Amino acid sequence: MKGLILNFSPRKKGNSEYVANEIYESLRTKFYKLELLNINDLNISKCGSCQEYCYKYGICRIRDDMQVLYKHFEEDDIIFFITPVYFYHIPGYAKIMIDRCQPYWVKKYLLKNLNLKNRKSFLICIAATKGEKLFHGIDLTMKYFFDIFNLSFVKKQNLYFKNVELKLEIVKFKNFIKYYIDKLNIRR
Ligand SMILES: Cc1cc2nc3c(=O)[nH]c(=O)nc-3n(C[C@H](O)[C@H](O)[C@H](O)COP(=O)(O)O)c2cc1C
Repeated sequence: MKGLILNFSPRKKGNSEYVANEIYESLRTKFYKLELLNINDLNISKCGSCQEYCYKYGICRIRDDMQVLYKHFEEDDIIFFITPVYFYHIPGYAKIMIDRCQPYWVKKYLLKNLNLKNRKSFLICIAATKGEKLFHGIDLTMKYFFDIFNLSFVKKQNLYFKNVELKLEIVKFKNFIKYYIDKLNIRR
């Protein structure tokens, strides 16, 4: 089994990084290959909406680190996405990454030549405040992003943290995070 843990937070030693490391340490022996990446360490250019190429071929003509992520999104069995909430959404750089997946939307819905198997994915969101609609924007974007790659979006299997602001404040939920990872019941 191959897997990816993708951290959207630019903050070093922050809450998303803590959760990403916990998942990695708990699950790595269950995978043939489990990779932990932070998109902020990758070089990702913005979508140029070059429809004459993207919409014709379902391929992005920009060559950068998206090639690494495309491979994971196409092939991995399980993918974890961990994000802080920024202005009621994912951080801008993460949205740039998602926009670059438009060629796969084209392949799936216009060219109808994308046949990826159904795989599991999990979304973990971390916010400082406790507004009722904190995660609405993220859920919508991630649901439609997952759909392109046939990655599952099951709200009750995701994790949503409120009231977590300072670096490593998430550690107050340490036991709950361990329980969540155990309950995922991921086997070799
Ligand atoms: C640019 C920016 C925007 C933010 N916007 C929100 C927000 O809209 N709602 C919220 O509850 N927290 C917001 N926060 C707080 C972060 O979501 C919170 O501190 C989180 O724990 C950071 O996680 P991290 O340590 O993984 O980066 C924002 C933080 C930053 C830096």
